[in-house]
Amino acid sequence: MEALRVITEEHQNLWRIAITLDLMADELDAGSTAEPAFYSSVFDYLEQFVDRVHHPKEDDFLFPVLRQRSTEAAAVLDRLQAEHRHGHARLDALRQALAASAVDAAGRRDFAAALRGYTQGLKGHIRSEETDVIPLARQVLTGDDWAAIDRAFLDNKDPAFGGDARAEFRELFHRIAALAPESVGLGAHSAGELRPVTPPAGEVLLKVAGMESCYGRIKALKGIDFEVRRGETVALVGSNGAGKTTFLRTLSGVQPMSAGSVHFAGEDISQLRSDMRMRRGICHSPEGRQVFGPLSIEDNLRLGAYTQPREHVAEDMEKVFAMFPILKEKRALPAGTLSGGQQQMLAIGRALMGRPRLLLLDEPSMGLAPLLVQEVFNVVRALKEQGMTIILAEQNAFAALAIADRGYVLETGSVTLSGSGQALISNEQVRAAYLGM
Ligand SMILES: Nc1ncnc2c1ncn2[C@@H]1O[C@H](COP(=O)(O)OP(=O)(O)OP(=O)(O)O)[C@@H](O)[C@H]1O
Ligand SMILES: [Mg+2]
Repeated sequence: MEALRVITEEHQNLWRIAITLDLMADELDAGSTAEPAFYSSVFDYLEQFVDRVHHPKEDDFLFPVLRQRSTEAAAVLDRLQAEHRHGHARLDALRQALAASAVDAAGRRDFAAALRGYTQGLKGHIRSEETDVIPLARQVLTGDDWAAIDRAFLDNKDPAFGGDARAEFRELFHRIAALAPESVGLGAHSAGELRPVTPPAGEVLLKVAGMESCYGRIKALKGIDFEVRRGETVALVGSNGAGKTTFLRTLSGVQPMSAGSVHFAGEDISQLRSDMRMRRGICHSPEGRQVFGPLSIEDNLRLGAYTQPREHVAEDMEKVFAMFPILKEKRALPAGTLSGGQQQMLAIGRALMGRPRLLLLDEPSMGLAPLLVQEVFNVVRALKEQGMTIILAEQNAFAALAIADRGYVLETGSVTLSGSGQALISNEQVRAAYLGM
């Protein structure tokens, strides 16, 4: 039932967009003007994917079989498919209302009302599919039905909804998140569905033994043992002041290590300076982003590539731009003009310019609105899917553990627990201390 997973995932994205649009409507009523670029990116997304991909998939593959297998399906499917057919016209009406909103306050209020009407319809539609259609389909469809539907949904060569379309879908969603005002959240409180994970059995890439580090006489790290295998995403969670940042800084060599050892790709790098560690592929996106405000976005990215041969730079920058289109758009502007979420993308992009073999991310979600928090975790997930090895330090323990293969819990400079991300999320101690449950 892979098709249902795909549908539900798309519903989650749409639901977040609906909540975002509701918040935007509130802001419009409070007097803020409509930013056309943001809304256009949302409407493009809805049009290209809901209208051209999501709905046709349901209409062509899922609904017809469901009609065959159940007589009670017809009523709800008739209604849903009528809504599918009207999708395009409703978006057109929204685009017109957006244009009219630029004229005066009345236009703005009308646009806010149109947005609310639209999201109400969208939410009702999603709710009906999730509570009526999907349970019914689970009940009445046969194994052969599912096999055929799944095949159609997962046909990566399909021009309408194959792999390329999905990549485009992600990019458009990213655009929405990048353009959204900081004040607006997606209302997503978790990183989504939790899956049990088996740690990949790859070779050990990083092995830290007995790491200690001090600020004056205060020992911030008290003997850390830590291991990362190639391709793993490892979460480092722990509350304020636990030592996460100190650990990452000591790993990348910018903070002195007073005892212990660090082996990377089989080599003892304990004595190496930070730039030498970076040359070996340990690239750090630091806490608080630390982008250089007066420098342009391009120049910030170039700084991340200072250990790289010149001929890599243009090519790698294009890769970063492909991942973060908003950075490309603003490439010549000072980094200080970017929003917090965009600066975080830049900080990650700058680390990627060093061609990491191990990427260290220190609190990438810190201080971001929920929409952007989600987006940052989507980026981490995408990097993980590309096979990147990642250490993700986060106070946002739930989201970090949900995407990690394994995790370590740090408390006042010591590792108190480690295990698979899933196991840590289910652990009562962790739940009580970090997940607020
Ligand atoms: N520059 C510094 N000088 C002195 N003590 C420091 C310094 N930086 C951190 N510490 C101390 O070291 C300990 C670990 O801090 P660290 O910043 O590594 O924690 P953290 O887990 O990253 O916390 P947060 O979640 O707030 O980022 C804390 O007790 C902190 O007060
Ligand atoms: Mg920190």
